[in-house]
Amino acid sequence: MGIFSDIETAADLLLSGQLVAIPTETVYGLAGNALDEHVVAKIFEAKNRPSFDPLIVHVPSKEAAHQIAHVSPLAERLIDQFSPGPLTLILPKKSTIPDLVTSGHNTVGIRIPSHPLTLQLLDRCGFPLAAPSANPFGYTSPTTAEHVDSQLGDRIGGVLDGGPCGVGVESTIIDLSGAHLKVLRHGGMPIEDLEEFLGHTLEEQLSSSSPNAPGMLVSHYNPGIPLRLFDTKDELLGSLELINNEGIGVLHLGEALGLDQEYSLSEESELVEAASHLFKGLRAFDPQKVSEIWAHKVQAEGLGRAINDRLQRAAK
Ligand code: TXA
Ligand code: MG
Repeated sequence: MGIFSDIETAADLLLSGQLVAIPTETVYGLAGNALDEHVVAKIFEAKNRPSFDPLIVHVPSKEAAHQIAHVSPLAERLIDQFSPGPLTLILPKKSTIPDLVTSGHNTVGIRIPSHPLTLQLLDRCGFPLAAPSANPFGYTSPTTAEHVDSQLGDRIGGVLDGGPCGVGVESTIIDLSGAHLKVLRHGGMPIEDLEEFLGHTLEEQLSSSSPNAPGMLVSHYNPGIPLRLFDTKDELLGSLELINNEGIGVLHLGEALGLDQEYSLSEESELVEAASHLFKGLRAFDPQKVSEIWAHKVQAEGLGRAINDRLQRAAK
């Protein structure tokens, strides 16, 4: 499809579950339906991300934000004052947002971008758009449709051309989910403007990799169920044969094994599907019946690397 500039084409692609790069005032985003975890998995695949970093969810209005997050009165004031604009607010999430979007966090990053084309597109689609910057992992964020097309064009539905991005750096991220507001990323919205409006200075917590704190999944998903990770499925099955497998929940890739406690991430061994089921799979076992989850690494290619990264963290 390449580069185009009409919203209907973009909406049709997004409504059919495809990815579209969208213009925002900061940088181009690689967008997909935030409510569909299979689509969200495709975003990670297209970006070639080795881990599942949480994605920002784009909405057209404060009302739309309320449908996916718990918007506090303070968050409302910030939205009224600064949105649409280059500001992302981290808020407690509602269950409508799949865990894959937030990498298992119980918070979600919400942003109302100010680009008119994307605001119209969001209205037209009727669902929020999850969108990281539209660059392959490790590359700089794109600020023109051509940048996106040359780097990702063959992996996505197309690029909605809204011209060069006015701001050119990513949004400022403020975490409102804790007791104190924290700046997680400096970006297009100057901190001074926020501090002046709030009447106080803001704490910073700038470690960009902090959302991936090791062990995160253990606390979120495996309360009381340790996870043992095998290098291969054969190794896992070999070990399972040696013991009476009572109390073991097997998280695997491929056709059903006929076990009491098992969860297949993808019967067809398809990595995009597996990624979209990963967070669900980690929670699928009942701690009353399962004392240990056994999982195996998958092929270290495409989304497989991100899946292995998460399994490794869960196993720590
Ligand atoms: O300007 C922007 O923010 C652009 C445009 C497309 O909107 N998007 C963007 O997305 O920069 P991305 O994925 O490249 O960077 C978003 C960062 C993630 O790396 C993650 O660290 C942080 O936002 N983030 C998202 N959700 C979070 C959450 N629930 N908790 C903590 N950090 C979060
Ligand atoms: Mg980025």
